[in-house]
Amino acid sequence: MVRRIIIDCDPGIDDSVALVMALFSRSLDVVAITAVEGNVPAEMATRNVQTVIEQLDPPRLPRIGAATANDNADYRDACFIHGRDGLGEAGFVTADHHQRHLSEKIICDEVRAAPGEIGIVCLGPLTNVARAIQRDPHFVENVGEVVMMGGSFNGIGNVTQTAEFNIHCDPESAWEVFHAPIKKTLIPLDITSQVQFSLGLIDSLPHESTSVGRFLHRVIPYLFRSYRQQLGLETIQIHDAVALLQLMEPELFELEALAGDVEIKGELTRGMTVFEKRRSKNAPHNLEVARVVAVSAARQAVIKRLHS
Ligand code: RIB
Ligand code: CA
Repeated sequence: MVRRIIIDCDPGIDDSVALVMALFSRSLDVVAITAVEGNVPAEMATRNVQTVIEQLDPPRLPRIGAATANDNADYRDACFIHGRDGLGEAGFVTADHHQRHLSEKIICDEVRAAPGEIGIVCLGPLTNVARAIQRDPHFVENVGEVVMMGGSFNGIGNVTQTAEFNIHCDPESAWEVFHAPIKKTLIPLDITSQVQFSLGLIDSLPHESTSVGRFLHRVIPYLFRSYRQQLGLETIQIHDAVALLQLMEPELFELEALAGDVEIKGELTRGMTVFEKRRSKNAPHNLEVARVVAVSAARQAVIKRLHS
């Protein structure tokens, strides 16, 4: 069965790798790609969504949603990892995009037009989904599910000691989505950071004679440089590709139903995801969380799906 999805993302190199997997998959119908401010500021996120689609030239063109700035005063981008242009400083030239509809409008319109059918795959902050919930009172009953890359089960962050980037960018929106009566699946940092890729990944990419190969060879090398220079790591993590894989090959993951929440006030913990781990408590479960991944199989599956 072909899954109809909207991908909400903040490209970002790892977002763009996930887009390659999705746009050429016969099992996914990417109805729209909606930009969200995160790795890069809003305007750049919108432009990068268009750039990725133009460079990949996929068999079916999705609608594009425009990002707008989030409301978080302490938001900071991640250009130090993804490059000044968010795409590995590859220097892509993109046509001026004509007036785009807002991401949250596209999300609401597509979900309302197909009640129960559309899944939202969130690979960036949850700003747009929270705004869709506020915009359309019927959104929560019409959306099929929300699958999110974000948060941390073990409480160790990648932006602060406790907060993961997507949640930390917009904690209030994450809180709203976590508390919404929607089928939610979370693929946290604990899972995505286990699936690491060495430099050998470059040799495993599609040939540069293909649009996908040309694109990936232009953006991925930058990530190896930034991970080494900024994080002191010799491997890279492609968080969003692993998160999307959970939707495409769920058998590679083990999920657990949990009660999860988002800290929005703590000085040291703002943006932290908190889960009820005390067995004695029976807090109502509000999401499923990926707790185990078949690391080697997931790594191979990501590479395989870049060739699909
Ligand atoms: O913490 C990793 C997440 O934050 C990924 O989605 C990455 O693209 C950034 O958005
Ligand atoms: Ca992302």
